Amino acid sequence: MKKIKLAIQKSGRLNKESISLLEKSGIKFENFKDQLKVNCENFPLNIYFLRNSDIPRYLSDGVVDIAIIGQNLIYESELNVNELMPLNFSKCRVSIAVPEKMKFEKISDLNKMKIATSYPNTLNKFLSKNNLDCEIHKINGSVEIAPNIGLSDAICDIVSTGNTLYKNNLREILTISNSEAVLCNSDSFDQSKKQTLDKLIFRFNSVLRAKRSKYILMNVPNDKIKTVSKLLPVLKSPTILPLEMKGWSSLHTVIDDDKFWESIDIIKDAGAEDILVCPIEKMVL
Ligand code: PRP
Repeated sequence: MKKIKLAIQKSGRLNKESISLLEKSGIKFENFKDQLKVNCENFPLNIYFLRNSDIPRYLSDGVVDIAIIGQNLIYESELNVNELMPLNFSKCRVSIAVPEKMKFEKISDLNKMKIATSYPNTLNKFLSKNNLDCEIHKINGSVEIAPNIGLSDAICDIVSTGNTLYKNNLREILTISNSEAVLCNSDSFDQSKKQTLDKLIFRFNSVLRAKRSKYILMNVPNDKIKTVSKLLPVLKSPTILPLEMKGWSSLHTVIDDDKFWESIDIIKDAGAEDILVCPIEKMVL
């Protein structure tokens, strides 16, 4: 298999989770501070640790083959970057926010405002689409302080928990786009490396599927097994093992983490008892 070059964030909101995903996928590499690139010991992969904003350019120029970045960055870069799979972390949105006390009722209230942002292309596309005429003030960091120091009337920035806006007395008024981390390549991807890429995607999928699921075991009276089984989502069919106690069985299956509490209430009402829930490390289908 041909070696593939993967770019991940050197620091910032995607760095930790990108490393964790690679490690959970069984890829071994040294992870020390301030390194630029590293060779993986047990998978044909070189990892490049790069500045977030530089990654789309390296990708489209073919310096790296694939990357883990946020969709917000792809949209902003306007380069030929293709999303291969969502990675279900670093979820955020690009939004417009105004000072808490500013009156804002409709989108046209933005007209003629000065808006500070690190996402000028994203903002520009949004303004053009809505026929708004605003002044875009590009800054590279700490966008949220711009209105407080009189640099702008509003801001356009990433919002995740909303804490940064809250601390700076800003109010989110419009969401331009939603974003999460994705694995991507570009049109210049060398197809002779596709086998390695497919293998990596297969591993990522197994890790992500496991993260979304829980292994669940419960005791069920034999006459309720059919009812309980019907209520649970299963892979093929649930595993049913007899208990030593007459008339009872242990039922095992996998459920979606999202629907966890909902499922528990339903199966308890249907007669399940002694429910155990365990994390799943990998899920290979
Ligand atoms: C972004 C953004 C805000 C913060 C919002 O910065 O610029 O500062 O996250 O997150 P919150 O809604 O959870 O408070 P990031 O941490 O990505 O770093 P940056 O300042 O380098 O963009």
